Amino acid sequence: MKKDKNRVYIFDTTLRDGEQSPGSSMNTEEKLILARQLEKLGVDIIEAGFPIASEGDFDAVRQIAKVIKKSQVAGLARANKVDIDRAWQAIKNAARPRIHTFISSSDIHLKYQLKKSREQVLKEAIAAVKLARSYTDNVEFSPMDATRSDKDYLVQMVSAVIDAGAVTVNIPDTVGYTIPEEFGNLIAYLFANVKNMGDTIISVHCHNDLGLAVANSLSAIRNGARQVECTINGIGERAGNTAMEEIVMALTTRKDMYGLYTKIKTDQIYKSSRLLTQITGVPVQPNKAIVGANAFAHESGIHQDGLIKEKITYEIMTPQSVGISDTHIVLGKHSGRAAIAQHLKKMGYVLSDEQINRVAVKVKDLADVKKDIYDEDLEAILYEETYRGEDKYSLVYLNVVSGNVAIPTATMEMKVGKEVVRDAGFGNGPVDATFAAIRNITKTSYPLLKYVVNAITGGSDAQGETMVQLQHNGHSVVGRGAHPDVIVASAKAYINALNRLEFLKDNAKRLKVELSQEMR
Ligand code: KIV
Ligand code: ZN
Repeated sequence: MKKDKNRVYIFDTTLRDGEQSPGSSMNTEEKLILARQLEKLGVDIIEAGFPIASEGDFDAVRQIAKVIKKSQVAGLARANKVDIDRAWQAIKNAARPRIHTFISSSDIHLKYQLKKSREQVLKEAIAAVKLARSYTDNVEFSPMDATRSDKDYLVQMVSAVIDAGAVTVNIPDTVGYTIPEEFGNLIAYLFANVKNMGDTIISVHCHNDLGLAVANSLSAIRNGARQVECTINGIGERAGNTAMEEIVMALTTRKDMYGLYTKIKTDQIYKSSRLLTQITGVPVQPNKAIVGANAFAHESGIHQDGLIKEKITYEIMTPQSVGISDTHIVLGKHSGRAAIAQHLKKMGYVLSDEQINRVAVKVKDLADVKKDIYDEDLEAILYEETYRGEDKYSLVYLNVVSGNVAIPTATMEMKVGKEVVRDAGFGNGPVDATFAAIRNITKTSYPLLKYVVNAITGGSDAQGETMVQLQHNGHSVVGRGAHPDVIVASAKAYINALNRLEFLKDNAKRLKVELSQEMR
């Protein structure tokens, strides 16, 4: 097939590099949910994980490989036989498997980390690609820390791995050190000096340590790169990776500059971003480009005046183009089960009858206390009601007394297994008292690492979305809750975190996973 020179391939590494960012670890079930959404979003390649890292990673990659049909599924492997064999075992059932193997190319890494010579590392890179090619013709190679490598050694390595059979060569800015002009020049240098480039796709993988990941990727594209490695919301190691939504919308909005296209369905961008936030509990900063709460909010009077007269005055892309709808109000008190099911279908969620019933009950409950129900509210309910295992703990009722003259006190009843248990807790505020009551009831005392509150939508009746991170054996789990009463939302998030701990304990054996690894 003739290569389309104007197409930029989107390689999503949210489930691998993204998952390495603090607080973003996901269990297998969550990874599967996200992988399905990435496929719907239209990403060309899903890097599903690093199969050698743990049994949990292996199992997640294997399961994703089985269900994803349209996107390619990549497994990461260091340049050695054990890693590559393991990666292949995990992805071999994919419709379109890819092995992504890597080894460092910078003298800094060779001297201090690998303690190997350039010749030795080159040999290992070639052998790794040849081994990977014995399994599949879809092999990607990355010279790690490429941007701090000797340019001519990099040319030698890229050329050697192409000869060995790599069809995609990825140039990582592993430590986020490069700047746009320099990185563009490096890509141009490779095209000018790698004599056997042929149809090889040059990919880039930029980290955001200097806030330049997207700019660096664009500069590389300008100089011939045709695959970008990126993550939803830009999550990833340290300061993160190139944000998928930013690179895609830059190419789309500035088609006049680049003349290139991707196969991303941009109207799925916002939904993908929201889903990731729901899963990890890590919120997006309000001023984040494309998906932040303020990304399309115009505050200044002059801007608002211009927008009323003609949108093009201050709007370079429409919220609808990334899947943020103007007509947010979707459901209310009188919406029936059929209307809810139909709206969910329109949003792209096909649920079983039982799941729709559970969501419908919650929508009614919410409609009693909140006038308008938005897509985001529905998604919060959906996540809570459909994507969970059997819960050990649930909230029956919560009553909180607080104020500037009372000692904050929470009285609470919970179901613990089949038992109903009641107790109270004191604290220095209503949330603290609620958490104390939960600890008393469940007889647990996991340290609380993080507690975050966000308003899902605007307005004083907005649902509060809360995230609680608990620590266990030096590892952490995230729980989420949503409710118009932020104290109830906080209790739900805490209880969700406890249930997730229980779920992981129960499933550790089934997944052949060390609990400690799964909760990294
Ligand atoms: O940042 C990096 O170099 C990586 C490689 C494994 C591609 O993540
Ligand atoms: Zn990386």
